[in-house]
Amino acid sequence: MGDQSAMFEAVREGMIPAHIYNDQDVFALEKERLFSRSWLFVAHESEIPNVGDYVVRHVLDDSFIVSRDNTGEVRVMFNMCLHRGMQVCRAEMGNASHFRCPYHGWSYRNDGRIVGLPFHQEAYGGEEGFAKKGQRLLPAPSVDSYNGMIFVSLDPAAPSLEEFLGDFTFYLDYYTKQSPDGVEVRGPQRWRVKANWKIGAENFAGDMYHTPQTHTSVVEIGLFREPKAEKRKDGNTYWAGNGGGTTYKLPEGTLEERLRYVGYPDEMIERMKQTWSHEQLAVVGDNGFMISAASIFPNLSFVHNWPKVEDGEDVLPFISLRQWQPISENETEVLSWFIVDKNAPEEFKAQSYKAYLMCFGSTGMFEQDDVENWVSLTNTAAGSMARRLHLNSRMGMKMDGSEVVPALGPDQFAGPGTAYVGYGEYNQRHLLSRWADYLEREPEQIDSVSIGGAI
Ligand code: FES
Ligand code: FE
Repeated sequence: MGDQSAMFEAVREGMIPAHIYNDQDVFALEKERLFSRSWLFVAHESEIPNVGDYVVRHVLDDSFIVSRDNTGEVRVMFNMCLHRGMQVCRAEMGNASHFRCPYHGWSYRNDGRIVGLPFHQEAYGGEEGFAKKGQRLLPAPSVDSYNGMIFVSLDPAAPSLEEFLGDFTFYLDYYTKQSPDGVEVRGPQRWRVKANWKIGAENFAGDMYHTPQTHTSVVEIGLFREPKAEKRKDGNTYWAGNGGGTTYKLPEGTLEERLRYVGYPDEMIERMKQTWSHEQLAVVGDNGFMISAASIFPNLSFVHNWPKVEDGEDVLPFISLRQWQPISENETEVLSWFIVDKNAPEEFKAQSYKAYLMCFGSTGMFEQDDVENWVSLTNTAAGSMARRLHLNSRMGMKMDGSEVVPALGPDQFAGPGTAYVGYGEYNQRHLLSRWADYLEREPEQIDSVSIGGAI
């Protein structure tokens, strides 16, 4: 991997060693130092609304059962049998009061406690030999949620989720809390792409620059109401806490007119007004910015868009949540959820889902355009020449490090963090600087747990 400190220093200056997008050693370091510590999204509470509901999700190689136990509490449990290590739950989702291991039949309640152990007396000497009490599937070391989004960290000493997300929660509400009852999610659709996981996260965080080029055909067929030239100058970005994203400048008008322009019906607008803070409303109503795509470090992204789905002027907003789940240094599993306000009219939900599928489902037009670039980039990054190249990720910065355009003042942008008008790779630099911070830190000793015996 060469000189690591030189690699991190270059990254912080916006000069990206090209091989980090396809390098086994870099991926090993990411596993050891980043994915073992960071908060990572696993599920939304609306995926498990009822007692006994569960989904199985992964944090890289680790499988977790995310279940709502019989008391209604959400549990995230390592999906590995305490006996000989079989995967206890093999289904992806369902409803169960218990999970029985397929290997020798140990069974667990949906809160993880062992309840049944075949031939307990004969094989182990009963409770005296092996007390089931107190034994349970290993819980995820840290679990917390925000607006129903459940996150885990494999680091028991991780800072709180609140601290981790920081001021980005201000922006998360636009996607996940458009009314007091929050959102429901559908999905995920899942597919694999032969691309490095970082590319998607960077793209969604702030790459407005690629839209007119990569998505030319989508713009040409009129899926977007904005003409190409207008879109081009309206690319804006913000970064706050542990995430950042892009915004579109909306036409002049009141808050209500601007939200109607994006395609929201009046009853949803009323609820947004009751739910969002004065500042959250001001970003849209006073400043005229609508939140679009975003990424939370390291691998969770959102997209909020409002395409035309039929001929005519009507647009339909949709929101998607997506995770770039690393499989290897050159393969990523994409998990893509559709998000919609729980209280939205049924007709809106149906149409919004259609807009999502058309743009960002597995066969969505944007999705297909994007992925071709990312696969090609990943392939090229594996070669020997890529080891000699530093990619330029300095858009928005002059040679001396000063900014091309100043950050917006509080009267121009009411949200927390730093926002800019125009193109800039500020957020890509933020993401990779965080990446460098994690990768530089030596791993800590993690205590192991032994089951029903001494070591
Ligand atoms: Fe699960 Fe034996 S491995 S019961
Ligand atoms: Fe794109």
